[in-house]
Amino acid sequence: MKTTTFKGRDFLAETDFTREEIETILDVALELKRDRAMGVYHDQLLRSKTLFMIFYNQSLRTRNSFEAGMTQLGGHAHFLDPGKIYTPALEGKEVAYSTERVSDVARVLDRMGDAIAIRCYGDPVDWEYGGAHNLLKEFARWADIPVLNMEDDIYHPFQGLADVLTVKEKFGGFSGVNFTMSWAYSPSVHKPRAVPQSAILYASMLGMNVTLAHPEGMELDPAIIAQCNEYARVSNGKFRITNDFEDGVRNAHVVYPKAWCPVVMFKQPVGEDDPKKAQAIFDEHKDWKCTQETMALADKNAIYMHCLPADRGFEVANDVIDKTEGPGWVSAVFDEAENRLHVQKAVMSLVM
Ligand code: CP
Repeated sequence: MKTTTFKGRDFLAETDFTREEIETILDVALELKRDRAMGVYHDQLLRSKTLFMIFYNQSLRTRNSFEAGMTQLGGHAHFLDPGKIYTPALEGKEVAYSTERVSDVARVLDRMGDAIAIRCYGDPVDWEYGGAHNLLKEFARWADIPVLNMEDDIYHPFQGLADVLTVKEKFGGFSGVNFTMSWAYSPSVHKPRAVPQSAILYASMLGMNVTLAHPEGMELDPAIIAQCNEYARVSNGKFRITNDFEDGVRNAHVVYPKAWCPVVMFKQPVGEDDPKKAQAIFDEHKDWKCTQETMALADKNAIYMHCLPADRGFEVANDVIDKTEGPGWVSAVFDEAENRLHVQKAVMSLVM
């Protein structure tokens, strides 16, 4: 375990870390989780340190798990609403006395605290795919303290870490685990791709048998798919794509159905800047919903996963998400949500 190599590093994408480093983070997360359960507290690890959290979008889990995590480690998390500060903006997107250039915000916060965490996707960057990730990279360019990605328009690396920690706890490891990430219907097309993209990246990096299931038109970023294929080759895992929901779920150990937007939602040239077309594609596939019948196709000891918030009655039936106990398959969504806390404490302890 080479923990010294983490100090001062940014966490913008899972691809910034090796498999060995990701496994170290998961080990540290489990250690912190077990210690807390035993009443062993680590409130000196980040004593007197400050995490600045800038949220361009809403959040329940991310905000509260980072905030609780910093408290448990002896530090403080400071919530910043971009509408109540001078909104951090890239050069060319500035408005006098309303925004402040990211390079200036980053250097000011760098002088006062110990890490900067940012969430940004969708409307704040006018659905320009990659625009939010570029904003985070600009923060990282100017701040010497670590910059952490709390979800952008490409990656949600802490959600993905919590997802694979949950798999490790439920199945004891990754090899031989059939991991299905599937699209599911939601009435809202305003859903980023970050969760499914991070989930399939980690799952293929760690050697699982990964299936990505979605209707035609709901393809993910081709660069992410290429990276998954490469990870699967190196890890001796598998990676495949199907346009058939039932085929995707059959014999899965992990069933992870959630909505994400189609590429047409994004601005040109990546997309078509066409939410109406996105809605029409969504509405053709209302039958992509996780029900008891869906779970009956999966492995008998499967787990249902979702990053939350879930659109109950659309993405998933109540009697699936609420079945948190066996016999048979179970919903693991609250373990998954709790694990946000433990993986983030691990990363913050290592990089701060
Ligand atoms: N899963 C997740 O990121 O939840 P929040 O949007 O509530 O932070």
